[in-house]
Amino acid sequence: MLYTGICRSDEHAVEGILPEMKFPIIIGHEGVGIVESIGEGVTGIKPGDRVIPLIAPQCGKCTVCKDPRGNRCLTFILNRPKGLMSDGTSRFTCKGKQIYHFLFTSTFTEYTVVEENAVTKIDDGATMDSVCLIGCGFSTGYGSALNTAKVHPGSTCVIFGLGGIGLAVAVGCKIAGATRIIGVDINADKFDKAKAFGVSECMNPKDSDKPIAQVLLELTGGGADYVFECIGNIETMTAALNSVTLLMELQFIVGVSAVQSKLSFDPLIMLSGRTLKSSYFGGWKGKDSVPMLVSDCMAKKFDLEKLVTHRLPLEKINEGFDLLRSGKCIRTVLKL
Ligand code: APR
Ligand code: ZN
Ligand code: ZN
Repeated sequence: MLYTGICRSDEHAVEGILPEMKFPIIIGHEGVGIVESIGEGVTGIKPGDRVIPLIAPQCGKCTVCKDPRGNRCLTFILNRPKGLMSDGTSRFTCKGKQIYHFLFTSTFTEYTVVEENAVTKIDDGATMDSVCLIGCGFSTGYGSALNTAKVHPGSTCVIFGLGGIGLAVAVGCKIAGATRIIGVDINADKFDKAKAFGVSECMNPKDSDKPIAQVLLELTGGGADYVFECIGNIETMTAALNSVTLLMELQFIVGVSAVQSKLSFDPLIMLSGRTLKSSYFGGWKGKDSVPMLVSDCMAKKFDLEKLVTHRLPLEKINEGFDLLRSGKCIRTVLKL
């Protein structure tokens, strides 16, 4: 591994609120590296290749892989034991004890082991210390706007949560031609950065006595075309849902919520034809899309450097988590 970003989902893993995680585990999932060696029968990559491990692996053979709409490869989701390779083994040990894998990737380490279908070769010329963000955060947000919501030109978008994911949503909305992008965050320190990503107005729910839903309805004269929840908090998911009483269309849920949490809402609010959608990894098929996203980055279609606010060596990983928890960073990239 060369570099890895620290994503909020890694913090969720530390908190133990992701479903079916097994400990001890090597977390981290937003990385880039160089192939050191390959196993028997591996033909798609070779030692020396620059690669991004895939949280959305692609076997290429299952019904989901063959369908252009999906990216949750059934081979990996249904058959692979949680936290282990497909053959049921782990490739990490510490003092003789088995360590589990995380999200098919495990990037907070100098060396990892991944399956051939959970890694993809990228252009050697990419800037390695920021292209790692394509491994999760950037692609997740950007694809939510482009693939899942299919934001249309001239639309009004609302983004709850202006972290790495929310700002990547803003990049996607902007490229799709949205004319108004409203950012919502309880941390006003995020607002300057958000504006640099094309967010046209920012608001802090704490600044108003009215519920944020009502504020947004008034501000947009009846509602936005698309609303993205990029926090992973049930309360803000509910707030976003309740905020769209008069909206024509609703796009929703990028954030990962805690295991066993439940979302509830009045079904009548769906009666006007609204759409509630979600996606994983922005709907991108890992193997097909990641090399293309890397090429788009190199062609300066978007700027990943702007998302990286801090850089640290692996030994200072806990400082990176502190920066995330305190809301002081957008993305910290670790050098491995
Ligand atoms: N209302 C508004 N904004 C909030 C609230 C709230 N109640 N709670 C948190 N936020 C803001 C934070 O201030 C922060 O700016 O949401 C933002 C979240 O950003 P990050 O912590 O950087 O998280 P990010 O990596 O962008 O991930 C967001 O997507 O993939 C998932 O697991 C990830 O659920 C997480 C979400
Ligand atoms: Zn598949
Ligand atoms: Zn992530």
